[in-house]
Amino acid sequence: FSLQKYNTFGIDAKAKTFVSVTNETELAEILQKHHSEKPFILGGGSNMLLTKDIDRLVIHVNLKGKSILEENDDYALVQAEAGENWHEFVLWSIDHQLGGLENLSLIPGNVGTTPIQNIGAYGVEIKDTFVSCRAMNIATQEIVTFDKAQCQFGYRESIFKNQEKDRFVILSVTFQLTRNHHKINTSYGAIEAELTRHNITHPTIKDVSNAVITIRQSKLPDPKELGNSGSFFKNPVIPKADYDKIQSQYPDMPHYTVSETEVKVPAGWLIEQAGFKGKRFGDAGIHQHQALVLVNYGNATGAEILAVSKNIQKTILEKFGIAIEAEVNII
Ligand code: EPU
Repeated sequence: FSLQKYNTFGIDAKAKTFVSVTNETELAEILQKHHSEKPFILGGGSNMLLTKDIDRLVIHVNLKGKSILEENDDYALVQAEAGENWHEFVLWSIDHQLGGLENLSLIPGNVGTTPIQNIGAYGVEIKDTFVSCRAMNIATQEIVTFDKAQCQFGYRESIFKNQEKDRFVILSVTFQLTRNHHKINTSYGAIEAELTRHNITHPTIKDVSNAVITIRQSKLPDPKELGNSGSFFKNPVIPKADYDKIQSQYPDMPHYTVSETEVKVPAGWLIEQAGFKGKRFGDAGIHQHQALVLVNYGNATGAEILAVSKNIQKTILEKFGIAIEAEVNII
């Protein structure tokens, strides 16, 4: 069974067998039946690079549904099932006049995978509105709830990438969204510039969403047209002393202060400085508008994209002494 349509990189890796589940009972039965082979859990396929075939059962989590659990004048608790498309869920919340997710518009993938890497963009992360998620233990099929503290969110990090890696299937996620008096976040320069361009001084959540959509479309390739997985690497956090040394050589290096002793540097900038932006190696390449995004021009294999990523990591280490780490899950 080809997984090409089930991963946004468009890699033609094969699954031994494939099943798409649409309810929790079905999921529990399949997990129980296949407990000895540890099935591979697939969500939206937007944050992984398949470098080989999957010699196991692949379970596609296709649970659907979104609802308002409770609400008052200020807030609404909203729950979405894991298989809902993330961007459609964001638009649905905006249509219901619910604020908090607008900066996260147009991020590829499904709701169920968003807590795993605490998705973030334009000054907002999922953890800012996340309340809890329900998850099924793969070994026991027991359903448990993780609250925000238990998820141990960090920059593109959570317990589901660490202690609890590969142990749970996330079933649904609950968010607390604002009903009135939205806390609009336009702190990210690009959003402000986009709103100013349209003479918008008092933006609505819909305005912010539209601005984010425009910005993303101008830099980030649409996976339907060009296979990719968004940012391939995390932005590295480096000691301030190392930053000062590099900065003396590259005074224009963009950066964000993390603490008194640490600085975050955009990996896209490092990759561009190393000369990789827009480069192509066979069908694998580096996006021309955003060097942090690796792309599949058609028939690249996962191994070819992985080789390009290793070449980039090695060059950045040699040139800047910085080790950059993949953000995407390498399978
Ligand atoms: N830059 C370059 N060259 C490039 C790309 C970026 O010089 O080719 C510079 C930009 O000029 C800017 C800085 O790097 O000064 C930051 O660039 P950008 O605003 O595009 O954001 P990013 O740090 O590259 C991060 C997230 C994105 C998210 C954006 C916006 C990570 C790993 N990536 O990218 O998330 O959309 O900020 O908030 O943190 C994703 O995770 O898949 C993703 C797309």
